[in-house]
Amino acid sequence: MSNVIYMTHPLIKHKITMLRNENTGTLEFRKLVEEIAMLMGYEALSDLHTTNIEITTPIEKTIQPVLEGKKPAVVPILRAGLGMVGGILALVPTAKVGHIGMRRDEVTHKPQAYYCNLPDYIEDRLILVVDPMLATGGSLTDAVTEIKKLGGKNIKCMCIIAAPEGVKAFTEAHPDVKLYIGSLDRCLNNDAYICPGLGDAGDRIFGTKA
Ligand code: PRP
Ligand code: URA
Repeated sequence: MSNVIYMTHPLIKHKITMLRNENTGTLEFRKLVEEIAMLMGYEALSDLHTTNIEITTPIEKTIQPVLEGKKPAVVPILRAGLGMVGGILALVPTAKVGHIGMRRDEVTHKPQAYYCNLPDYIEDRLILVVDPMLATGGSLTDAVTEIKKLGGKNIKCMCIIAAPEGVKAFTEAHPDVKLYIGSLDRCLNNDAYICPGLGDAGDRIFGTKA
């Protein structure tokens, strides 16, 4: 069974189209990334475990479900993944936040890790790794390898736009990890940018220039 889940919700599709538009400015871009992350997160977190507790409504005592276990951890891949964190925290405000810094070399397109800080008890948490772009797949693949090395076991990943090359590379390296994709695009260009894509996600979120 494939571990890749492609989003089909019309709201996600609509918002991704707005995101792609070169006329979408920084403010709107950030807002859209957060909203899409929330909609995708709703799907990715649909199998969180619950346990029953007793509460009293104004009418009577009742047994009802609440989330159980350690709080999930959201782990953005720096920089662009940071833009998705707010959307997940809107769903699970108590989630822990870790960070992994990966930078693509502009010539070789290979990722270089420059930072990693994960919440404690990482082995007991659902870990949601977020990055808007899955291009060659190098950054996400290496980030998940690092998280596994540090004890992460229950890992899911969310990318807003992916290239087929990246999906292939990632699923070959981590067939056990569920990957949620907002849109599967056509291909990579010679600079390893996704086509049609949305350009450089980090630069568009932070208003920096490529
Ligand atoms: C972008 C993006 C991913 C990576 C995807 O980050 O946010 O992390 O490229 O490419 P890959 O699948 O080929 O590895 P970038 O390295 O540009 O850094 P930034 O987020 O700091 O801009
Ligand atoms: N990183 C981006 O931000 N955009 C791409 O198209 C590829 C990698």
